[in-house]
Amino acid sequence: MDRLLLELPTLEDLELVKKKVFMRIDINCPIDYETGKILDDRRIRVHSAYIKSIVEKYEPALVLGSHQGRPGEREFVSLEEHAELLSKYTGISIRFVDDVIGPAARQAIKDLKPGEVLLLDNLRFVSEEVIEADPEIQSNTILVKKLSNLFDYYVNDAFATAHRSQPSIVGFPLVLPSAIGPLFEKEVKAVSKIYTSGDGPRVFVLGGSKIHDLIRVIENLVRNKLAERILTTGVLAQLFLLAKGVKIGDENIRILEEKNALTLIPRARQLLLKGAPIETPVDVKTLVGEKEVDNTSVTNIRGVIKDIGDTTIEVYSEFIKEASLVVMRGPAGVIEDERFREGTLRLLDAVSKTRAFVIIAGGHLGSMVDDSRIDSSRIHVSTGGNALLLMLSGEELPAIKAMLLSKSIFHGGKK
Ligand code: 3PG
Repeated sequence: MDRLLLELPTLEDLELVKKKVFMRIDINCPIDYETGKILDDRRIRVHSAYIKSIVEKYEPALVLGSHQGRPGEREFVSLEEHAELLSKYTGISIRFVDDVIGPAARQAIKDLKPGEVLLLDNLRFVSEEVIEADPEIQSNTILVKKLSNLFDYYVNDAFATAHRSQPSIVGFPLVLPSAIGPLFEKEVKAVSKIYTSGDGPRVFVLGGSKIHDLIRVIENLVRNKLAERILTTGVLAQLFLLAKGVKIGDENIRILEEKNALTLIPRARQLLLKGAPIETPVDVKTLVGEKEVDNTSVTNIRGVIKDIGDTTIEVYSEFIKEASLVVMRGPAGVIEDERFREGTLRLLDAVSKTRAFVIIAGGHLGSMVDDSRIDSSRIHVSTGGNALLLMLSGEELPAIKAMLLSKSIFHGGKK
């Protein structure tokens, strides 16, 4: 992993001063369905610090691009509010254009002067951006062709999207001298802890909604022998309970069905049959009817599962205590509801008391961590959820592959 860091081109390999630069960032944020407003701007705050220092150091004409949500989702919105928040946190007046590859965007890019920053609208407004394909194909997309000739360099600081083989991630590196950005670099450094964390068990506490990615992560972790214990929570736990033959109840099965997760049962069963070190809850908190909250054994589930139960919290906390590395992804329950935050809060408390190196893998959890309670040399709060997990589990991420290809084409970057 350290070798990889040496191989990846970084900003130092480019001559950025006063050049026109396209930087892919990931400011995809949770959105309030009712108001369409950003619910948690942590990614914007993190990126802002890096954008500010790039502008101060190199004075480039800096164009930023990000996606937000996916077509068909309620989180699929414009980046106008993101631009306002970027301006607020960087102290730079960030321009915004409600266009991606059309004449308005291209003119705004051409007009941009050194030291100025422009944010394009949601890159996924261009339909090509949601298609996954090899770098070669993506470098020939309309999106890449329309934009690339306007820039001197491409920088990828969107670590959280590094697992997607989409045009703005893997297409540009083949046609422009490129480098990873400073946030990307920091994230890759944290990943190396999987190999250097010490002798104790490496414990993964996995939950959250992107369940298809999570199964892939677990398969990798098991194949590459990178986890001594995998503690499941949320819908992932329900999937494994079902795969074990536990009767989780029709309402909970329906929730899995809505996430298209029942198709994953054979893969979950395979993992269990192979003896993968996967733990499932022994009890859960459920909502029965409208109001009744029940803490019940998994052998006797009533109502909709909303959190892990008290005994499970204790058992999981004991596993966490022993660890030399703890990786945590996703809340353990429905944290938006006060009644079901306890599982997540108590696991975070257990994590803060260990001697382990702690990696918090993005998402809502990142905002719940009071990192001041953990010595900063011992915690990495990542902006990347599943990208980080896939890399930790031994996968070569498309963004990294494309960056290495770029290096071989442009010989380290100088234009
Ligand atoms: C994320 O939040 O995981 C990244 O922004 C990637 O988003 P995606 O899963 O919609 O590609």
